[in-house]
Amino acid sequence: MKNIVLTGFMGTGKTTIGKLLSEKLSFPFFDTDKIIEQNTDMSIPCLFEKVGEQEFRNYEKEVVKLLSEAEGCVISCGGGIVLNNINMDLLSKNGIIVYLKASIDTIVKRIVNDKNRPIIAAMENPKVEIEKLFNDRKRFYKRHDFSFDVDNLTPDTIVTKIINTVKEIL
Ligand code: S3P
Repeated sequence: MKNIVLTGFMGTGKTTIGKLLSEKLSFPFFDTDKIIEQNTDMSIPCLFEKVGEQEFRNYEKEVVKLLSEAEGCVISCGGGIVLNNINMDLLSKNGIIVYLKASIDTIVKRIVNDKNRPIIAAMENPKVEIEKLFNDRKRFYKRHDFSFDVDNLTPDTIVTKIINTVKEIL
């Protein structure tokens, strides 16, 4: 069985959709941020403060290496995992990459005041900077097998669409 790997910018619903997807398919669920938090015994904001983003990206790489060996799992990726090509090579080995696509308006609405996302919390002008980061990252999110618009759709609807698309190739 293949893994279903969810990618997308912060605030696109990867964790919510991933959990629901895993329940519907009876697949185990893994969230890269959760695993890093468990392994380091620190929250993501704490980790960014203590060791910095660069070291956090190294933790991500280690988790990706481990998860890429899994089979028949749903894997929800932190929004920056796509920035590293090796991460994506590993996740693609036995995974179907599913990109959750939201409009910039939806994303800004959902994360503009988020204090638990250190990248956003550090922004002086989040509205402008989120849009810039979103545009800078667009090319990385192009690396997917399937893309699903999530604007104005319920998690249930999105999950049904994903299952209908991937069920034949799992
Ligand atoms: C990040 C996204 C976050 C988390 C960290 C960095 C990013 O995950 O990994 O705060 O660089 O996009 P979510 O996409 O689940 O918010």
